Amino acid sequence: MLELKDISYRIQKDNEEVALIDSASFRAHSGHFMAIVGPSGCGKTTLLKIIAGLYVESEGNIYWNGRDLSEEGDLEPSEIGYVPQFSIAYDHLTVEESVESSVKLRVKTRKRSEFHDLVDRVLEDTGLDAIRNRPVRVLSGGQKRRLSLAMELVTDPVLLLCDEVTSGLDPKSEREIVHLMHHLSTQHNRLVINVTHSLSHLDLYDSIMVLHEGKIAYHGQPRALDHYFSVEEAEEVYPRLAKRSSGEWQQSWLKHQPEYYSALDSASRVTRKEGEEEEQAPDETTSAVTPGFFAQFFALLFRRFKIFYRDGGNLFLQMAMLVGFPVLVIIFAIDGIDQIKRLPDSIMDNPLEEALQQQEIFQNHLKTGGLVSGLVMFQVILLTLMGSNNSAREIAGERMIYEKEKLGGLRPLSYLFSKLAFLGILVAVQSVWMAVFVQNICHIPVPNFVALLALLVLVNAAMTAICLGISALSKTPEQASLLSVYLVGFQLPLSGAVLALPGFAEWITRPFISAYWAWSGSMTSLDSLYLNAVKKVTDTSLEQPGICLLVLVAHFLIGLFLAYVGVKKTRWD
Ligand SMILES: Nc1ncnc2c1ncn2[C@@H]1O[C@H](COP(=O)(O)OP(=O)(O)O)[C@@H](O)[C@H]1O
Ligand SMILES: [Mg+2]
Repeated sequence: MLELKDISYRIQKDNEEVALIDSASFRAHSGHFMAIVGPSGCGKTTLLKIIAGLYVESEGNIYWNGRDLSEEGDLEPSEIGYVPQFSIAYDHLTVEESVESSVKLRVKTRKRSEFHDLVDRVLEDTGLDAIRNRPVRVLSGGQKRRLSLAMELVTDPVLLLCDEVTSGLDPKSEREIVHLMHHLSTQHNRLVINVTHSLSHLDLYDSIMVLHEGKIAYHGQPRALDHYFSVEEAEEVYPRLAKRSSGEWQQSWLKHQPEYYSALDSASRVTRKEGEEEEQAPDETTSAVTPGFFAQFFALLFRRFKIFYRDGGNLFLQMAMLVGFPVLVIIFAIDGIDQIKRLPDSIMDNPLEEALQQQEIFQNHLKTGGLVSGLVMFQVILLTLMGSNNSAREIAGERMIYEKEKLGGLRPLSYLFSKLAFLGILVAVQSVWMAVFVQNICHIPVPNFVALLALLVLVNAAMTAICLGISALSKTPEQASLLSVYLVGFQLPLSGAVLALPGFAEWITRPFISAYWAWSGSMTSLDSLYLNAVKKVTDTSLEQPGICLLVLVAHFLIGLFLAYVGVKKTRWD
């Protein structure tokens, strides 16, 4: 049995305390199907989130079978199913893959057969068996709601909380989903609570709670509803509610509560007798055990690659960048490649000729210095662009799904490492390919190519990590994209590679500009003749490759730290 005692939830709004939920007390029996109804904005979702443990109540206590949840520990993630208002499946997966993914993240199965049996059973229970191979993006509204329910049923939760799973559906689909939820409440003595503003099919519920401005106006059997509100039919309840203040309704309800609750209690005993057989053989499958760190890590990593390959638009963009960017570098460098190959430094015997020659050599050095510097900077900037494109939306774009999976027992670190592994592969392919391809054609004069390679890999890795951090901390994917674009946009002007910055600005911005460190380290790794040529075209001071590598590693670690903080945070709004 679920019991709430004097639960209030208050927030600060314009320096004032507002109670979204005000002294709510009620109880609901296991095996019951309960509706929480009320006009939009009355606090239904808030109440459901308090029960789910997503919001912490400002006051009051919640009990599950007599156990105080705030004092003796919350329900296990596997004991609660929470179906939020938004879709929790990926468009690019099929129905079956979505359920499989839910099982892999939430239920430790010992054998392949056990895994497949569970997936099959859940698909059958929710009527999705016939469309198991259909991609999520083509599902109808009703089918999507079924899938959301299916993904929660994999752990056999004892408490199933559903938020507006029938909203926006046609009457037939709505009826089917309500029947499905009713059916689910008959299994495993499960309490199913459905939040809805719809007042149809109320007779299918064991109890109805009416919420009005955060206060309970009624909770009892559906058949007593019309009498309590003195209306002919349920549809008239909302207009009726508006006629009195929520405080008055609450008082009225408190007066009648014992009477309605004794009716509910005896109804619960009757149901119990009817369903005795089921209860006599209590479910031996104790609640599901959450899989280990690596099981979750690999499940997420494989799923990420699957979505990557199926997301045609994004895949095309990635491929275009991978192939196009190095080619772009070559196109810009093509005229100067010969020049890079032979940089004269010889001096003639004849003084007059020597002076002329020196002039020419100097011009030559300027040109070559500018070319080598620009060539490397171009690579660096394109790699930072790829880095931000890799990760800006990576977490922000799926935040709600992630929060939902975290609530279901996903470890934030499994999630973060799966992102690092996926992005690590992208970064490695992009950077190594860029560096090797350009080097083979342009022959940038470095005695040690590995140093240049390391700098190019690291600048991409640093930018990818920082944008992943931004992604994990941003409120929306749009915000994350915008911040990441700004970050890339500032790299070139603030790097000092084009124009040297004034001294003070240089010292303030430099530590944050990954592109500077990758470029500067590459310049000091050049053959000394070329390094001198570069020094002739820039006033920006250059640092040794070792220091530059260290700074880029630091940037990478800062990004990682931000991402860690971001994924640990809970963000439901
Ligand atoms: N985090 C929040 N900050 C401020 N107001 C909120 C917040 N969450 C909900 N509200 C407000 O509280 C009221 C109840 O919201 P909600 O529980 O979502 O209502 P319902 O689900 O019944 O439509 C609404 O008026 C909503 O605008
Ligand atoms: Mg709501």
